[in-house]
Amino acid sequence: MSSHDSSQSHDQSFFNVFMVVMGVLIGITFFLILLARAIGGDPQLAWVREEPDFVAAIDARIQPVGRVALPGDQLEQAAPAVEAVPAPAAAKLTGEQVYNAACFACHGAGVGGAPKMGDAAAWKPRVAQGTATLNKHAVEGYQGSAGFMPPKGGRVDLSDDEIIAAVDFMVGKSG
Ligand code: HEC
Repeated sequence: MSSHDSSQSHDQSFFNVFMVVMGVLIGITFFLILLARAIGGDPQLAWVREEPDFVAAIDARIQPVGRVALPGDQLEQAAPAVEAVPAPAAAKLTGEQVYNAACFACHGAGVGGAPKMGDAAAWKPRVAQGTATLNKHAVEGYQGSAGFMPPKGGRVDLSDDEIIAAVDFMVGKSG
């Protein structure tokens, strides 16, 4: 009878240790799940990378500066870069026009962490950085803690002044 008792308490203590080990393993499992989500859970950047305007802007920036023209090549084909430069005299867009064409896509609904136009609370700390920083971030782009702001919102064909006018427009509507 006593041997039966001791084997029962042995089972009991084995069971207790087993449950602690299970608990620790389940804890580690959840920790790994959260870690994986923290590392891999940034679909916003992937989304920006697929933006046609953003991709086109990168293609334009990484164009070769020159091409080798061999005898017999069509020279027109060898020098397309000159034509890609937009005419500087093109009609200048207003801040509102630029916003609608280039910024609304993200700042209209707050896509991917973009501060929504009209959301005074979201804009207040940004405006507090100073206009120069806001303009620089809009023109040159930047990776903030909320998400990725592409240079000129992906519209590198627009002038710095046009982008700054759009910043003024958005900030004016978000005070
Ligand atoms: C592809 C999405 C996208 C587009 C298009 C876009 N933005 Fe943004 N913008 C963002 C995101 C995301 C942030 C926030 C980044 C952060 O602070 O983490 C942001 C932030 C900003 C800020 C705040 C900068 C700061 O320092 O806090 C300004 C100003 C701004 N954008 C201007 C513009 C203007 C002007 C346009 C249009 C020409 C534009 N954005 C188009 C995504 C976009």
